[in-house]
Amino acid sequence: MHVTFCCAGGDPGRWETELRRRIPNLTFSVWAPGAPPEADVALVWAPPQQFIDEQPQLKGLFNAAAGVDALLRLRLPPNLPIVRLEDAGMAVQMAEYVCHALIHDFRVFGQLDRQQREHRWQQPPAPDRRGYPVGVMGLGVLGRRVVQALLGFDYAVHTWTRTPPVDPPPGVHCHVGPDALDGFLGASRGLVCVLPLTPATRDILNRRHLSRLRPGGYVVNVARGAHVVDQDLIDLIDEGHLSGATLDVFRQEPLPTDHPFWAHPRIRVTPHTSARTLETSSVVQIVDKIAQVAAGVPWHRIGGWVDPQRGY
Ligand code: NAP
Ligand code: GLV
Repeated sequence: MHVTFCCAGGDPGRWETELRRRIPNLTFSVWAPGAPPEADVALVWAPPQQFIDEQPQLKGLFNAAAGVDALLRLRLPPNLPIVRLEDAGMAVQMAEYVCHALIHDFRVFGQLDRQQREHRWQQPPAPDRRGYPVGVMGLGVLGRRVVQALLGFDYAVHTWTRTPPVDPPPGVHCHVGPDALDGFLGASRGLVCVLPLTPATRDILNRRHLSRLRPGGYVVNVARGAHVVDQDLIDLIDEGHLSGATLDVFRQEPLPTDHPFWAHPRIRVTPHTSARTLETSSVVQIVDKIAQVAAGVPWHRIGGWVDPQRGY
């Protein structure tokens, strides 16, 4: 098998060593513009359109990340299989990040920080978590771990998915499909977005939907920036309907220095860091998936296969 490597900013050495350990008679190449179209499969992260155009012989792509939206934006040959990264150490990081953000809001740590700066001893009201149900959009590989972590803190958790969840975590209130979205939002005060970016989910955190959250709602977006309509979020915070937001992902990354999110007193901005790709776990997982293809396993039977109809 011939694997070509086209990962923006990635180091091919580690991948090549691990691939050679697992796959006999491997040919490995690092793509450069004009490279001959000889590879069987490609290992990619944010490849340019030129790569796709110059490698029409490829039988499939392995995406070294969980989200495939950047890949699906390219003009791809029809029916080109794509397999993505699943968890590989990201889910626990995302659960940690989301819990931190929501607990910071629920337990009024912002107010406590201000009090400390003023040397002011004042206990806030005892927390009543019945007033802080959390809605999680997406119960996939990452969303499930987020939900489990929130349940560990005894939050009431609502989930929203496209299809009825198989084996939902016990105690969770499951809402399914577009018709259930308003009810899901109306039941939630904390809102976490862990959806893939698809035509159905782009701009989903807009004024109409966010205004359905319970008063004082708090938004955590760890999915993709284009899920949020930026000005709608700012307006709803400034109008007092929402208490604030923690945002890890943005329409343009890096977030432009003059974007209003940076200076907003109720918005926390982090640089796409809620769930970092861990090299060791990712290499091991993707190499295993490539080895399955080399051994003849059909693409759609490989974990992380992207269903072209669903777009994730
Ligand atoms: P996943 O396993 O594919 O799960 C996606 C979930 O979203 C599923 O529960 C799915 O519903 C639901 N969903 C998809 N479209 C929907 C729709 N139209 N309506 C309602 N629910 C819908 O994905 P994942 O591995 O958890 O990753 C989720 C996203 O996280 C990635 O796509 C990526 O954009 C983002 N991400 C961000 C970071 C970061 O550092 N910020 C890191 C990694 C990933 P069903 O269960 O019905 O299919
Ligand atoms: C990161 O954002 C990923 O999709 O893996």
